This record gives sequence, C-alpha cells and structure tokens, in this order.
Amino acid sequence: MKNLLILASGSGSNAENIARYFSKHKSIRVAAIGSNKTKAYVLERAKQFQIPTFTFSNSDLREPEAGSFWEPYEIDYIILAGFLLKIPEWLIHKFTDRIINIHPALLPQYGGKGMYGMHVHQAVYDNREKQSGITIHLVNEQYDEGRIIFQANTELTAEDQPNDIAQKIHALEYQYFPAVIEDYIQSHSIDS
Ligand code: GAR
Repeated sequence: MKNLLILASGSGSNAENIARYFSKHKSIRVAAIGSNKTKAYVLERAKQFQIPTFTFSNSDLREPEAGSFWEPYEIDYIILAGFLLKIPEWLIHKFTDRIINIHPALLPQYGGKGMYGMHVHQAVYDNREKQSGITIHLVNEQYDEGRIIFQANTELTAEDQPNDIAQKIHALEYQYFPAVIEDYIQSHSIDS
C-alpha cells in the first residue's frame, strides 16, 4: 500500500475529490491530511472519510522535526492540493520526486510567488487570455518550477469572469488530478 499525505490550506475540494477517488483503491490510500490553517474547511471534509488530520504552523514546517506530525502514517507521497506554504528544502530532499503539486494555470505562465487561487484567475482575466488550464508537477526548490507531469487546458470566452474561470479550472482539476497521481505513483513505484 502506498500512503498519501495531502497538504491543503483552504477549502479542500481537491483533497476531498482525491480522498473519494482512492477510498476503495487496492494499492493507494490517503493516510492523512495536514493543514497550516486550524480553520481550513479541508479538516471538516476529512471526517467523512475517517482520514486523520493534523495542523502545524508555518515555522513548524521549516524544521525537520515537523516530520513527526505524519510519522505514524508511513507516508510515501505528499500531494499539495491548494497548499500555500513554500515547501522547505529538508522536505524536498526527503521526498525527492515524491511531492506533487497542482497549479491552476498553464505553467510557466502565471506561476511564482503570490500566484495562487483567485490571484491566478484574476491575472488570466486581466490579460484577456483565450485559454487557461492546470499543471500538475513535481516540487523542487523553486516555486512552480518542478518537472511537469501533466497539463490540460480549457477555452475561455470573452464573457468568462474570474469566478467562471475558477469553476472551469476546478472542473479540470477534479477530472484529472486523482488519475494523474495514480498513474505517476504506479509508474514511479515500478521504476524505484
Ligand atoms: C486549486 O485550484 C489549486 O489548483 C490551487 O488552489 C485551489 C485549491 O482549491 N492551488 C494553487 O493556487 C497553488 N499555487 P481547493 O481547496 O478547493 O482544492
């Protein structure tokens, strides 16, 4: 069994979708969900799946001792689903090629510090883009610059407001993120 840790800072609709997808899976399961926000709705969503949760502070995460939060769950992969803190180097080294992030735009466009959630959709809207999309990538030391493992795009119309763009992007995320995680883990586990 491969154990996933999901880290999320907010609503957690992707975390829920991933938890549902793997709830009856033979070889992959969501073992725990962690958040840097004690009031994040993702912690509520975890309850229906009986997934254990924990919270930590921004400074906790900077120290390798933070690993003790998820040590009981024997984590193999970390999934960032709307997680807004920078992943520290110690964690990247410990989980090389085993941390997967989703970004709500077509990287390398609309990436980098400050580019998350609605900020991304607002910028896409302001630039009158004709399309946007999602990028699923491995996490390295630079924000949004790790190896891309999947992208999908969606057309935008002149009528689409930032909220409409957000909805289109969420639909793509729900459609693809769990299956991309599954494919990546299954092929990565064979390689390693
Ligand atoms: C998602 O759209 C995700 O791509 C984005 O935050 C949203 C979280 O929604 N992530 C980033 O912007 C990371 N840079 P959710 O909490 O409903 O899953």
